[in-house]
Amino acid sequence: MRPILPVAFALLAPVVAALAAQAVGQGAAPAPAVLAPGQAPPLPAAGPLAAPRASAQTGLPAVLTAQLVPPGSQVPAVLALGEKLFFEPRLSGDGTVACATCHDPARAFTDGRPTSIGIHGRAGQRNAPTILNALYNKTQFWDGRVDTLEQQAALPVTNPDEMGAARLEEASSGIAGDKDYQDRFMQAFGHAVNPQDMLSAMAAYERSLVSFDAPFDHFVAGEANAISDSAKHGWELFNTKARCNLCHALLDNQRDVTLFTDNDFHDIGIGILKAGVNMLASHAQGILRQQAPLDVDAAAISSERSVLGRFLVTRKTSDIAAFRTPGLRNALVTGPYFHDGSMQTLWDVLDHYNKGDGITDPWLDQDMQPLALTEAEIDDVIAFLASLTSPQYKSLGDEEYARQLALSRTSRPQRDTARAFAPKHPQPPPPF
Ligand code: HEC
Ligand code: HEC
Repeated sequence: MRPILPVAFALLAPVVAALAAQAVGQGAAPAPAVLAPGQAPPLPAAGPLAAPRASAQTGLPAVLTAQLVPPGSQVPAVLALGEKLFFEPRLSGDGTVACATCHDPARAFTDGRPTSIGIHGRAGQRNAPTILNALYNKTQFWDGRVDTLEQQAALPVTNPDEMGAARLEEASSGIAGDKDYQDRFMQAFGHAVNPQDMLSAMAAYERSLVSFDAPFDHFVAGEANAISDSAKHGWELFNTKARCNLCHALLDNQRDVTLFTDNDFHDIGIGILKAGVNMLASHAQGILRQQAPLDVDAAAISSERSVLGRFLVTRKTSDIAAFRTPGLRNALVTGPYFHDGSMQTLWDVLDHYNKGDGITDPWLDQDMQPLALTEAEIDDVIAFLASLTSPQYKSLGDEEYARQLALSRTSRPQRDTARAFAPKHPQPPPPF
């Protein structure tokens, strides 16, 4: 048996036993389905990977988790209802799309696409983040436009490019006549089917999706051979020469082995690649001139202004093209990468950081600079990232690592070695 951390709250013991039995060895997810015009992606089935996770995981932050999910607060009937709702296409405008369409448990609760596709095959502007460990996010969405999972869950239901229900009430009335839901809502909340309890149940279910117990966690817990020497070296680089810890750690001066994010927002030069300085500036000025309040969700999912990121929420020019630092757990199995899914492999991600940015970007975070990482050092940082894969996704991770490695040996679109070893590029002043 692996050593496990005792934790202060309990989840579903029987489910946990079932999960543990099949934890390792899930097959690899195939490439996302090719869709006919106007077609929504297929809805995945809820399998064992959709089940609430055990709380006994090496590396799980017990105190923080107990603060966010107080002991005893996770009621089995609520979690089971939340899981059912997460897979419920009748919440969408035409009965085809559920949360799980874009957050597939077999893909670590992502969709494997650069940007998500919803009802009627409509494409959004943003990459679907994983739901695993989303309970720890200080804010939700790439731009942090809401704070809680309850607030978050309401938005995709009515977003016209995601689930496309006319109103939240319409979504819940779509299931209100179903006897099974009537019983489940009554048992879980003591009320008839209603939108607020629907959101509460989905959020409670999401709070059960804790994902630690990765090889790296076992290494930190004292199993010296749980990760490779390459991954160990990568972890050193992550905190030193590669400068990743400046954003992917809670504090600059203390190693963060838990969530790998500062909960803050930075422009690391992704959006500028696609939009360019002039387009970003003109979108931002348009919003500053606009009198009416901005519908941030619509702008983020459905318009070219999506690339403005955190600025959509704060309207501060320093937030132009800034996005939330994502946590890095399970990153190997949650590509493509970045808010717009613009990079295919972790080698592309590292090439981007190695050269310091994309192109000349007046809003670039000051912590971005050329890193002068060698090829072997890049491989080491990626080996460390791969060691953050939770056991349920081990075989998917192995296949994804092999796939990305093979791709990186023939295609390195972001690599610019001259720039990676040159001094920092001078940064132009913001245009306004
Ligand atoms: C059509 C695809 C799609 C559907 C359907 C969908 N999502 Fe998402 N989800 C996304 C995308 C894309 C984002 C990121 C959007 C952004 O940041 O602007 C996201 C973000 C999230 C986040 C924030 C995660 C983070 O790290 O910030 C959560 C939580 C989430 N979705 C839960 C849900 C729930 C619950 C449902 C069902 C009610 C749902 N999603 C339906 C695509 C989808
Ligand atoms: C200046 C802050 C900063 C630094 C330094 C930084 N990151 Fe990031 N990282 C971010 C932000 C912000 C994003 C999201 C940006 C976006 O999508 O536009 C991100 C995204 C990522 C992603 C994509 C995750 C996903 O789910 O799509 C990976 C992987 C990653 N970073 C790894 C690293 C590594 C490895 C290093 C060190 C070489 C590093 N980061 C350095 C802030 C930073």
